[in-house]
Amino acid sequence: MRELFVLLWFSGGDMNKILLSRRDMLKIGAGSAVAVLLGKTYVMEQKQKETKMAKKENMDVFADAFSGGQYTLPPLPYGYDALEPLYDQQTLKLHHDKHHAAYVAGLNAALTKLDAARKAKDFAAVKAASIDLAFNGSGHILHTLFWHSMKPGGNNGQMPFEMKQAMEESFGSSESGQAHFAAATKAVEGSGWGILAFEPVSQKCIVLQCEKHQNLTIWGVVPLLVCDVWEHAYYLKYQNNRGEWVDNFMKLANWDFASERLAAAKSCVMELRK
Ligand SMILES: [Fe+2]
Repeated sequence: MRELFVLLWFSGGDMNKILLSRRDMLKIGAGSAVAVLLGKTYVMEQKQKETKMAKKENMDVFADAFSGGQYTLPPLPYGYDALEPLYDQQTLKLHHDKHHAAYVAGLNAALTKLDAARKAKDFAAVKAASIDLAFNGSGHILHTLFWHSMKPGGNNGQMPFEMKQAMEESFGSSESGQAHFAAATKAVEGSGWGILAFEPVSQKCIVLQCEKHQNLTIWGVVPLLVCDVWEHAYYLKYQNNRGEWVDNFMKLANWDFASERLAAAKSCVMELRK
Protein backbone atom coordinates (compact mmCIF):
# COMPACT_ATOMS: atom_id res chain seq x y z
CA MET A 1 0.00 0.00 0.00
CA ARG A 2 1.31 3.38 -0.94
CA GLU A 3 2.11 5.44 2.06
CA LEU A 4 0.73 8.91 2.36
CA PHE A 5 3.31 11.46 3.25
CA VAL A 6 2.47 14.84 4.58
CA LEU A 7 5.46 16.91 3.87
CA LEU A 8 6.02 20.40 5.09
CA TRP A 9 9.02 22.45 4.30
CA PHE A 10 10.22 25.37 6.30
CA SER A 11 12.79 28.07 5.69
CA GLY A 12 15.37 29.68 7.94
CA GLY A 13 18.49 27.78 7.04
CA ASP A 14 17.43 24.33 8.27
CA MET A 15 14.79 22.54 6.32
CA ASN A 16 12.61 20.31 8.40
CA LYS A 17 10.36 17.53 7.28
CA ILE A 18 7.32 16.18 9.05
CA LEU A 19 6.42 12.75 7.79
CA LEU A 20 3.28 10.93 8.81
CA SER A 21 2.51 7.57 7.21
CA ARG A 22 -1.06 6.45 6.40
CA ARG A 23 -0.66 3.79 9.10
CA ASP A 24 0.17 6.53 11.63
CA MET A 25 -2.86 8.49 10.49
CA LEU A 26 -5.18 5.50 10.93
CA LYS A 27 -3.66 4.61 14.30
CA ILE A 28 -4.16 8.00 15.86
CA GLY A 29 -7.12 9.08 13.77
CA ALA A 30 -7.05 11.69 11.06
CA GLY A 31 -8.24 14.47 13.39
CA SER A 32 -5.57 13.71 15.97
CA ALA A 33 -2.99 13.44 13.24
CA VAL A 34 -3.90 16.88 12.00
CA ALA A 35 -3.80 18.19 15.57
CA VAL A 36 -0.38 16.62 16.12
CA LEU A 37 0.75 17.99 12.82
CA LEU A 38 -0.55 21.48 13.56
CA GLY A 39 0.98 21.35 17.03
CA LYS A 40 4.35 20.34 15.65
CA THR A 41 4.01 22.91 12.92
CA TYR A 42 3.20 25.65 15.43
CA VAL A 43 6.16 24.81 17.67
CA MET A 44 8.50 24.63 14.70
CA GLU A 45 7.18 27.88 13.28
CA GLN A 46 7.68 29.64 16.62
CA LYS A 47 11.18 28.24 16.92
CA GLN A 48 11.94 29.27 13.42
CA LYS A 49 10.58 32.79 13.93
CA GLU A 50 12.73 33.19 17.06
CA THR A 51 15.85 32.01 15.24
CA LYS A 52 15.08 34.28 12.30
CA MET A 53 14.51 37.28 14.59
CA ALA A 54 17.70 36.60 16.56
CA LYS A 55 19.60 36.39 13.29
CA LYS A 56 18.03 39.60 11.99
CA GLU A 57 18.72 41.57 15.16
CA ASN A 58 22.41 40.81 14.81
CA MET A 59 22.52 41.44 11.12
CA ASP A 60 22.99 44.81 9.46
CA VAL A 61 25.24 44.37 6.47
CA PHE A 62 25.63 48.13 6.10
CA ALA A 63 26.36 48.81 9.79
CA ASP A 64 30.05 49.45 9.10
CA ALA A 65 29.62 50.97 5.64
CA PHE A 66 28.96 54.51 6.93
CA SER A 67 30.20 56.04 10.14
CA GLY A 68 30.85 59.51 11.55
CA GLY A 69 29.48 61.27 8.48
CA GLN A 70 31.72 59.35 6.07
CA TYR A 71 31.36 56.17 4.06
CA THR A 72 33.69 53.52 5.47
CA LEU A 73 35.14 50.19 4.35
CA PRO A 74 33.25 47.46 6.21
CA PRO A 75 35.30 44.46 7.37
CA LEU A 76 34.78 41.19 5.54
CA PRO A 77 32.21 38.94 7.23
CA TYR A 78 34.79 36.09 7.13
CA GLY A 79 38.55 35.60 6.97
CA TYR A 80 40.59 36.17 3.82
CA ASP A 81 41.07 32.43 3.37
CA ALA A 82 37.48 31.44 4.23
CA LEU A 83 36.35 30.97 0.63
CA GLU A 84 39.38 28.94 -0.48
CA PRO A 85 39.85 27.20 -2.83
CA LEU A 86 36.92 28.59 -4.87
CA TYR A 87 37.87 32.21 -4.18
CA ASP A 88 41.51 32.58 -3.31
CA GLN A 89 42.90 34.54 -0.39
CA GLN A 90 45.15 36.81 -2.46
CA THR A 91 42.35 37.93 -4.79
CA LEU A 92 39.91 38.44 -1.93
CA LYS A 93 42.38 40.55 0.05
CA LEU A 94 43.26 42.73 -2.94
CA HIS A 95 39.62 43.04 -3.98
CA HIS A 96 38.47 44.12 -0.52
CA ASP A 97 41.44 46.06 0.85
CA LYS A 98 42.37 47.91 -2.32
CA HIS A 99 39.49 47.96 -4.80
CA HIS A 100 36.56 48.32 -2.42
CA ALA A 101 38.59 50.79 -0.32
CA ALA A 102 39.17 52.90 -3.45
CA TYR A 103 35.43 53.13 -4.08
CA VAL A 104 34.90 54.32 -0.51
CA ALA A 105 37.62 56.98 -0.85
CA GLY A 106 36.25 58.09 -4.24
CA LEU A 107 32.73 58.31 -2.86
CA ASN A 108 33.78 60.53 0.04
CA ALA A 109 35.87 62.69 -2.30
CA ALA A 110 32.90 63.16 -4.65
CA LEU A 111 30.70 64.20 -1.75
CA THR A 112 33.33 66.70 -0.56
CA LYS A 113 33.47 68.20 -4.06
CA LEU A 114 29.68 68.48 -4.23
CA ASP A 115 29.56 70.05 -0.78
CA ALA A 116 32.14 72.65 -1.85
CA ALA A 117 30.15 73.34 -5.04
CA ARG A 118 26.95 73.97 -3.05
CA LYS A 119 28.75 76.28 -0.63
CA ALA A 120 30.43 78.21 -3.44
CA LYS A 121 27.22 78.18 -5.49
CA ASP A 122 29.48 77.12 -8.34
CA PHE A 123 28.19 74.02 -10.10
CA ALA A 124 30.64 74.04 -13.02
CA ALA A 125 32.05 70.69 -11.87
CA VAL A 126 28.71 69.12 -10.95
CA LYS A 127 28.65 66.73 -13.92
CA ALA A 128 32.08 65.18 -13.21
CA ALA A 129 31.38 65.01 -9.46
CA SER A 130 27.98 63.37 -10.07
CA ILE A 131 29.62 60.73 -12.29
CA ASP A 132 32.20 60.09 -9.53
CA LEU A 133 29.40 59.87 -6.97
CA ALA A 134 27.44 57.28 -8.99
CA PHE A 135 30.53 55.26 -9.94
CA ASN A 136 32.02 55.07 -6.45
CA GLY A 137 28.71 54.95 -4.59
CA SER A 138 27.47 52.02 -6.66
CA GLY A 139 30.84 50.31 -6.23
CA HIS A 140 30.65 50.70 -2.44
CA ILE A 141 27.06 49.46 -2.10
CA LEU A 142 27.44 46.52 -4.49
CA HIS A 143 30.74 45.36 -2.98
CA THR A 144 29.25 45.52 0.52
CA LEU A 145 26.45 43.25 -0.73
CA PHE A 146 28.91 41.09 -2.70
CA TRP A 147 30.88 40.02 0.41
CA HIS A 148 27.63 38.82 1.97
CA SER A 149 26.52 37.17 -1.26
CA MET A 150 29.07 34.42 -0.60
CA LYS A 151 29.72 32.34 2.49
CA PRO A 152 32.19 29.61 3.33
CA GLY A 153 30.82 26.36 1.92
CA GLY A 154 27.88 28.11 0.24
CA ASN A 155 24.35 26.70 0.30
CA ASN A 156 25.02 24.05 -2.33
CA GLY A 157 22.19 25.42 -4.48
CA GLN A 158 19.66 24.84 -1.67
CA MET A 159 17.68 27.81 -0.43
CA PRO A 160 15.18 28.74 2.28
CA PHE A 161 11.50 28.14 1.49
CA GLU A 162 10.59 31.81 0.88
CA MET A 163 13.45 32.27 -1.55
CA LYS A 164 12.65 29.02 -3.35
CA GLN A 165 9.00 30.00 -3.66
CA ALA A 166 9.94 33.42 -5.06
CA MET A 167 12.27 31.78 -7.58
CA GLU A 168 9.50 29.41 -8.66
CA GLU A 169 6.98 32.25 -9.05
CA SER A 170 9.46 34.39 -10.94
CA PHE A 171 11.35 31.92 -13.08
CA GLY A 172 9.35 28.68 -13.11
CA SER A 173 11.73 26.87 -10.79
CA SER A 174 14.66 27.55 -8.52
CA GLU A 175 16.94 25.66 -10.92
CA SER A 176 15.90 27.67 -14.00
CA GLY A 177 16.29 30.93 -12.02
CA GLN A 178 19.82 29.92 -11.01
CA ALA A 179 20.66 28.93 -14.58
CA HIS A 180 19.27 32.27 -15.84
CA PHE A 181 21.33 34.20 -13.25
CA ALA A 182 24.55 32.36 -14.11
CA ALA A 183 24.02 32.73 -17.89
CA ALA A 184 23.19 36.45 -17.67
CA THR A 185 26.18 37.10 -15.41
CA LYS A 186 28.56 35.29 -17.77
CA ALA A 187 27.20 37.31 -20.70
CA VAL A 188 27.63 40.79 -19.14
CA GLU A 189 29.33 42.91 -21.78
CA GLY A 190 32.64 44.20 -20.46
CA SER A 191 32.79 45.00 -16.73
CA GLY A 192 29.75 44.71 -14.54
CA TRP A 193 27.60 42.56 -12.33
CA GLY A 194 24.98 39.87 -12.47
CA ILE A 195 22.21 40.94 -10.12
CA LEU A 196 19.26 39.02 -8.76
CA ALA A 197 16.82 41.69 -7.62
CA PHE A 198 13.34 42.10 -6.19
CA GLU A 199 11.19 44.28 -8.41
CA PRO A 200 8.54 45.94 -6.23
CA VAL A 201 5.92 46.71 -8.91
CA SER A 202 5.43 43.08 -10.00
CA GLN A 203 6.70 41.87 -6.60
CA LYS A 204 8.78 39.29 -8.39
CA CYS A 205 12.47 38.59 -8.72
CA ILE A 206 14.30 39.62 -11.85
CA VAL A 207 17.82 39.08 -13.16
CA LEU A 208 19.70 42.15 -14.32
CA GLN A 209 22.87 42.43 -16.33
CA CYS A 210 24.55 45.54 -15.05
CA GLU A 211 27.19 47.00 -17.34
CA LYS A 212 29.79 48.91 -15.34
CA HIS A 213 27.67 49.73 -12.31
CA GLN A 214 27.05 53.41 -12.18
CA ASN A 215 24.58 53.71 -15.04
CA LEU A 216 21.75 52.90 -12.69
CA THR A 217 23.15 55.27 -10.04
CA ILE A 218 23.68 54.04 -6.48
CA TRP A 219 21.94 50.72 -5.84
CA GLY A 220 19.47 50.69 -3.02
CA VAL A 221 18.42 54.32 -3.22
CA VAL A 222 14.68 55.00 -3.03
CA PRO A 223 13.54 57.61 -5.59
CA LEU A 224 11.65 60.47 -3.91
CA LEU A 225 11.21 62.97 -6.76
CA VAL A 226 12.10 62.40 -10.40
CA CYS A 227 12.42 64.73 -13.39
CA ASP A 228 12.43 63.31 -16.93
CA VAL A 229 15.08 64.92 -19.15
CA TRP A 230 14.75 62.60 -22.11
CA GLU A 231 13.98 64.87 -25.07
CA HIS A 232 10.48 63.38 -25.46
CA ALA A 233 9.62 64.91 -22.09
CA TYR A 234 10.19 68.53 -23.08
CA TYR A 235 11.23 68.98 -26.73
CA LEU A 236 7.81 69.92 -28.14
CA LYS A 237 7.60 72.99 -25.91
CA TYR A 238 11.17 73.73 -24.89
CA GLN A 239 13.10 72.34 -27.90
CA ASN A 240 16.78 72.23 -26.90
CA ASN A 241 16.31 74.41 -23.82
CA ARG A 242 16.48 71.70 -21.20
CA GLY A 243 17.47 74.22 -18.53
CA GLU A 244 14.20 76.12 -18.83
CA TRP A 245 12.24 72.86 -18.62
CA VAL A 246 14.11 71.84 -15.45
CA ASP A 247 13.61 75.29 -13.87
CA ASN A 248 9.89 75.01 -14.57
CA PHE A 249 9.79 71.42 -13.30
CA MET A 250 11.21 72.74 -10.02
CA LYS A 251 8.23 75.13 -9.82
CA LEU A 252 5.86 72.17 -10.33
CA ALA A 253 7.64 69.84 -7.90
CA ASN A 254 5.35 67.89 -5.55
CA TRP A 255 7.24 68.02 -2.24
CA ASP A 256 4.28 66.49 -0.38
CA PHE A 257 4.71 63.34 -2.50
CA ALA A 258 8.48 63.35 -1.94
CA SER A 259 7.99 63.78 1.80
CA GLU A 260 5.57 60.85 1.99
CA ARG A 261 8.01 58.63 0.13
CA LEU A 262 10.85 59.77 2.40
CA ALA A 263 8.83 58.76 5.48
CA ALA A 264 8.01 55.37 3.90
CA ALA A 265 11.66 54.80 2.96
CA LYS A 266 12.85 55.71 6.47
CA SER A 267 10.30 53.35 8.03
CA CYS A 268 11.63 50.32 6.16
CA VAL A 269 15.30 51.22 6.01
CA MET A 270 16.36 48.68 8.62
CA GLU A 271 14.66 45.86 6.72
CA LEU A 272 16.58 46.87 3.59
CA ARG A 273 19.89 46.72 5.46
CA LYS A 274 19.53 43.07 6.40
FE1 LIG B 1 34.91 44.33 -7.52
